Amino acid sequence: MQFSIVIPTLNESENVDLLLTRLLALDLVPESFEVIFVDDGSTDGTPEKIRRWEAHKKNIHLVERQEKPDLTASILAGTAIAKSDIIVVMDADLSHLPEQLPAVVSPVLDGNYDVAVGSRYIPGGSTQGWPLYRQWLSRAGGLLARPICDVSDATSGFFAFHRKLITNIPEKARGYKILLELLMSGQGNLSVIEIPITFHDRAQGTSKLSLSHHLIYLQRLITLAGGTVSIGTASRFAIVGFMGIFVDALTFQWMISWNSGLALAHITSFLAAVTINYTLNSKWSFRSYHEGNLDWYQFGRFLTVGLFALLLRGGVLALLVYTWHLPAELAIFPAIAATAAVNYLGSAFYVFPENRNRPSLDIRWRVAAVGIVLFVILLRLVYLGLAQLIPDEAYYWQYTQHMDLSFFDHPPMVAWLIWLGTTIAGQNELGVRIGAFICGLIAMGYLYAFARNLYDKSTGMRAIMLLSILPFGFASGLVMTPDAPLIATWAATLYYMERALVAGRNIAWLGMGVAFGLGLLSKYTLGLLGIAALAFVILDPAARRWMRRPQPYLSAILALLLFSPVIIWNYENNWVSFLFQTERLGGGGHTFSVHYLLLYIAIILTPVGLYAALHALRYICSKNNNYDKCERRRNLFVLIFTGIPLVIFLGISTFDTPRFHWTSPVWLAILPTIAWMMGQSRTLYTISSRLRAIWQPTIIVSLLAYTFVLHYVVLGIPGIPYQFLTEHYFWKEATLEVEKIAEEMRSQTGQVPIVVGMSKWSIASALSFYNKDSNKMDIRSRNMFGDNSAMYDFWFPSHPPSNRPIILVGMERHTLERDREGDEIDHMLDQPSTVQYRIVTRNGTPLRHLYYRTAQGYHGSAISKLTKRQ
Ligand code: GDD
Ligand code: MN
Repeated sequence: MQFSIVIPTLNESENVDLLLTRLLALDLVPESFEVIFVDDGSTDGTPEKIRRWEAHKKNIHLVERQEKPDLTASILAGTAIAKSDIIVVMDADLSHLPEQLPAVVSPVLDGNYDVAVGSRYIPGGSTQGWPLYRQWLSRAGGLLARPICDVSDATSGFFAFHRKLITNIPEKARGYKILLELLMSGQGNLSVIEIPITFHDRAQGTSKLSLSHHLIYLQRLITLAGGTVSIGTASRFAIVGFMGIFVDALTFQWMISWNSGLALAHITSFLAAVTINYTLNSKWSFRSYHEGNLDWYQFGRFLTVGLFALLLRGGVLALLVYTWHLPAELAIFPAIAATAAVNYLGSAFYVFPENRNRPSLDIRWRVAAVGIVLFVILLRLVYLGLAQLIPDEAYYWQYTQHMDLSFFDHPPMVAWLIWLGTTIAGQNELGVRIGAFICGLIAMGYLYAFARNLYDKSTGMRAIMLLSILPFGFASGLVMTPDAPLIATWAATLYYMERALVAGRNIAWLGMGVAFGLGLLSKYTLGLLGIAALAFVILDPAARRWMRRPQPYLSAILALLLFSPVIIWNYENNWVSFLFQTERLGGGGHTFSVHYLLLYIAIILTPVGLYAALHALRYICSKNNNYDKCERRRNLFVLIFTGIPLVIFLGISTFDTPRFHWTSPVWLAILPTIAWMMGQSRTLYTISSRLRAIWQPTIIVSLLAYTFVLHYVVLGIPGIPYQFLTEHYFWKEATLEVEKIAEEMRSQTGQVPIVVGMSKWSIASALSFYNKDSNKMDIRSRNMFGDNSAMYDFWFPSHPPSNRPIILVGMERHTLERDREGDEIDHMLDQPSTVQYRIVTRNGTPLRHLYYRTAQGYHGSAISKLTKRQ
């Protein structure tokens, strides 16, 4: 006996004859297999039909179960009496073609695989005759399982396996998805193959799949992922939740009626509700999982989840109230719903996790990665349009008001993205930032694929988890600066370069040309990857053969074509961008700043990230003489693509002051290795567990910090004043104040004043962005007083002397009195006032100071900065 076919049946009388006829027609030796039907009390004569076959075929059997009908239980019952150790499971309704059975069983028969899955979702597989909604449902079900299970069709009902695997399946396994249980119980140690099959809708009768099966599937999926859910805990949690909502909403309404402001009201009401909820949840909802007294460790986790939920819901609340203009009394309900979702998932997976059949470490990190990445995406989405622009973003928005092929200090991508975003979503924060958000998603996608290609899927998932929580990664998907598209295109370029240079894929050169070109359009630093690629080709013999083939050259030409707008603009503007960039390198006043660079790295990576990166680099170097050629080439790739840009930045910082985000993209190439190292449980045991132990708090603390800051700048945190942000933020309210000052001057003098932002570009840009159309001011930058002002030198090259009144606005007092060289500017002004300041407020809360100075006219600048530069 070679294998046993187990076929569950429930009211399949019309199908039995046809199925058996076709099975027996397969031309298999009768002694080599048996067919075991497991019937669950069919009432349509199915058992009788099977008995008739059983009577004269020795290899056909029927098991009639008496217990509660269940597919998984039936398959287990059939397996129990099987005479062979190799089991094939298939449906009775001819959805699975008997003719495809040999293909499904042979990999297991040959002893090459533990499990063979008949798959609809790999090339060659398909589904025929199913209505669209069933196809979607099946796809969605499969997709949900994807993070924890690496098979394309984990919900297939047609598969072969070795009987010994059954012993791993937990008692609680029920429902339709025995395959998933089987795959998961192997904890990643099974060898699994997928065989393409064509699934046909059933020939006769109706499907027994019902809503309750879907719910059971979801529940099992959560349990397999390490969460606790059962109808019991969920409904108890919901009841407790409802009481919480009641307390929450009531307290909130009461506070709002006392004019407490959104932040104070929702935080107080939340705390009231959460105290009640924790007590009831631990003593009642999840009681069977966690008995005993108050567990401080667990309570800490509960508070952490609560804090996340709280800080996120502040954003939801603000979104509904400030942007969608819902009354606060109503907005609290959707906000509570968002909180409940975060709280429930947090409770099920993190506070009260499944302790009995804990999934493997690998699976638990995968689940954490999915949760964290989704939370970060949600957080960005909620706060994207709420947080005011920082001056840099306003400056890049100002680019779009003077659209061009390129710009003096940056290539044009950032402007193009803002232009696109604001054209679609309007001239507001959302419009400016939506491009950054999308760049964030693109970066995640490419980093995942890059890390998966270098290592494996789990590493890919952990890599994007790290990208979303590390300061440089989190910010680049939220704040719209050239770094947003830079990170995305850097990740894309890495991905294609690895495919082309290491994996030797022809087509990757095309992607590389596009990614590299778009990357250069984002920020010139991306060019460093070109140098790294050259170094790799020189050092790696296998990659060297590309030198004699056309692909790299065509790819470079493609990149150059994409980059051509910058070249054309510079051709028309005396090559100023390139001069500016090289000038910055050459004339930066020889100050040794390597220590600053290292400090900045510790900020954008966190100290733990830096520590892990150094470990990863050391590990890569130590393995460089590895005998395994694949591993050696991979290590060389990571080393070169991290090391070369890094060394160049280090070199520059020996004589020039670095900006703090310079090295951000450099770390993308080493992230996969960092992510890989933290996930090892066999090799590298000690270092890996130490890394995990420090990553855990790092992830939570950094994520909390971002959530906290976003809540703080948008809604405030009761008890913490705004003074910390000094004069760099809250330009919306500050602009309002400047508009008032301008209006005062206008009514005094009868003339429209000139408003000058006394910084290189930030103040003028921020004022321009927040200046209302109904009250347009005439806004200039500091180049009116002889300093350089980047693009403002092009937009407003000079200003003739004028007797219009003038208002100087500054972030610091001295910027209103002296220029960059420290020379007084009074002589350029007519009757200048002393420096004054106002306190800018919002609903009575002080936000910041505004320094300003007025004068009755402008005498002109002695030397224009354009002549000064030449
Ligand atoms: N013994 C027993 N007990 N058999 C059952 C039961 C039960 O409770 N419920 C269903 N069956 C049998 C059916 O008689 C049929 O042979 C097989 O199990 C599949 O049931 P269907 O009702 O035909 O399910 P389906 O076609 O909707 O679902 C198919 O596709 C899914 C993928 O989306 C099956 O192949 C599923 O296993 C598969 O997951
Ligand atoms: Mn079916």
